[in-house]
Amino acid sequence: MSDESTSFANNLLSQMTLDEKIGQLHQYFSWGNFDPEVVRKGKAGSVINASGALSGQGFSGSGSAQISNHIQQLAMESRLKIPQILGRDVIHGYRTIFPIPLAQSAAFDISLAEQAASIAAKEASADGVKWTFAPMLDIARDPRWGRVAEGNGEDPYLGSQLAAAVIKGFQGTDYSAADRIVACAKHYVGYGSAEGGRDYDNGEISELTLRDIYLPPFHSAVKAGVGTLMSAFLDLNGVPATANRKLLTDVLRGEWGFDGFVVSDWDSVVELINHGVAENESEAAELAFHAGVDMEMVSRTYPNTLAFNLQNGKISLEEIDEGVRRILRIKHRAGLFANPFTDLARSSRDILTPNSRALARKFAQDTIVLLKNKDNILPLKNHCKVLVGGYFIHATAELFGTWTPDGNPADVQPFSTAFSENAPRDFELHFADNTDLALAIAQESDLVILTLGENPRRSGENSNVSDLSLPPGQAEFVDQMIALGKPVIMVIFAGRPLAIGRQVSQADAVLYAWHPGIEGAAAIADIIFGRVSPSARLPITFPRATGQVPIYYNHKNSGRPVSPDGPFRTRYVDLPASPLFPFGFGLTYTNFDYAKIALSSESLRNQLRVSADITNTGQTAGVEVVQLYVRDLVGSVTRPIRELKNYQKIFLKPGESRRVSFIITEEDLAFTHLDGSFSVEPGKFEVWIAPDSSSGINATFRI
Ligand code: BGC
Repeated sequence: MSDESTSFANNLLSQMTLDEKIGQLHQYFSWGNFDPEVVRKGKAGSVINASGALSGQGFSGSGSAQISNHIQQLAMESRLKIPQILGRDVIHGYRTIFPIPLAQSAAFDISLAEQAASIAAKEASADGVKWTFAPMLDIARDPRWGRVAEGNGEDPYLGSQLAAAVIKGFQGTDYSAADRIVACAKHYVGYGSAEGGRDYDNGEISELTLRDIYLPPFHSAVKAGVGTLMSAFLDLNGVPATANRKLLTDVLRGEWGFDGFVVSDWDSVVELINHGVAENESEAAELAFHAGVDMEMVSRTYPNTLAFNLQNGKISLEEIDEGVRRILRIKHRAGLFANPFTDLARSSRDILTPNSRALARKFAQDTIVLLKNKDNILPLKNHCKVLVGGYFIHATAELFGTWTPDGNPADVQPFSTAFSENAPRDFELHFADNTDLALAIAQESDLVILTLGENPRRSGENSNVSDLSLPPGQAEFVDQMIALGKPVIMVIFAGRPLAIGRQVSQADAVLYAWHPGIEGAAAIADIIFGRVSPSARLPITFPRATGQVPIYYNHKNSGRPVSPDGPFRTRYVDLPASPLFPFGFGLTYTNFDYAKIALSSESLRNQLRVSADITNTGQTAGVEVVQLYVRDLVGSVTRPIRELKNYQKIFLKPGESRRVSFIITEEDLAFTHLDGSFSVEPGKFEVWIAPDSSSGINATFRI
């Protein structure tokens, strides 16, 4: 590599002492006693949690921007004036909190995801944060795992699309711009496969599944120019991800040509001792550094032992130089050497603007999935007396979801206010949570809207559940409400798919709102009262019961495929094998008809066009997410029964019809073979144009 940033890094490297080099490889965090000398003496390349971690620790200036600038000032007092890259978790918004990433995926809209990330970048950079630990690209097939909330669901195609979009949103085309930040694709790799859904537990993923399901979003991130990657906590196939040289170096750098830097996860280097692959800190440092982890987050094995490892010939000076070079290169590309400071005037101008809030509302509207709508009860039409009850009517921070260190609950309009403000005036609304009072008011009402679901603390890092039902007590409360015989509309908040089969059968309508962010309550009102028509689709399969997990749409056929009839099939005796709701599912306020699928040719040479007529057969306008799936019917290794390959979101007026076309290329159909090669195999394929992963109209072609 001989770009300007590499030359800059090389020049700087030639002036650095060994101590200064090792300093760059360390990311510093202090629990409450920040030591300015660490930065001033060049003993850290990055400070994590730049603002919040230091607030109230005797620094001048009250806001985060002042603290960031203070740290950079310390860096400017170091011998070589190497700026810090200040890192923070800006996961789904900084102060303007957008829906959780899993919800964002439900919008099937990469443009919204990109815009939200660019707002997050603008806000975070205003406070001097130049590096976010996002996006999380872990495919998750097990919703017991709490971090399913932070990712894009189960599909590698959707996950790869969103990876590229969010990285573009954070980084722009040039992340030296003042309002852009460096992204970090995490957690590389396989973290979502933790056994039993227990965060940090180990995973086993076959080489074929790793290549075709778990790696693609990361490959997409690298192709999109992501500046950094984070290694995962878990032990994957017997090798902790933080010590996996094959993945961190051979695949990431050798095969994909990544030239940014890799940061470990929090303490994950020293945790190699717990994993039982290192006896002590110096072995842990040697393993991680040699594997390709350039910067160590928080734990101190690099500063404590890298010099010793060098002396003993366990690692070479060239390796150290290469790690430092990668970090300096990204700092240079980020414009930090030109100006490490943030303009203090920016935070009041750039954070939480009306435009950001408007986007948060639009994004929330487009992520809420309508799962049931009996007799078109929604949108509410007849003005009537309504009880709005349940567990979230006063929620503020609870609407944010997991990982929002900079969200401020005071910015959130609770459901009770948002509803009163956005409902047509002649609806008579009463609010009461989950008490007897709620039941008494319901008795007197024409209709009940029930808010149910999970507090955000039940999902996110290390918040796993063994039971996907509604949290304790809620099902019983619903039963009492249902017994009153009133129509019930449920709005469910969650960081994961919940097993809500019973409640869905009880309800007249169900809206799955995830954790919708700062404007979530207003967005829900927009949908309930029909100002907006729902259009979101499930980015992950919904199980009927916890025991069905793992369950995902792109599974293999087996020798005895799933079938409702007959024994000796892939099934349960106590449950249907099918999910409660399939991947890609979601209703609208109208109906769409799919007809006349046609192919440009019966055989694919380079590419092929597949088209169908989509017609809005209902009474209202609506947005349909038209999905393209394929199946490779015979392969040298078994192939998924369906794979999403593309989608289009189209708006149709009542009665309007549109011919929707997709191009399929050979590359779309390629997969990994037993010898590790990646290509398409000739043979027969099935293709669907579909409203979800379990229906649609189909045709076949050959290669
Ligand atoms: C999480 C990462 C996060 C890091 C820094 C870790 O515990 O696994 O996702 O970026 O902390 O806050």
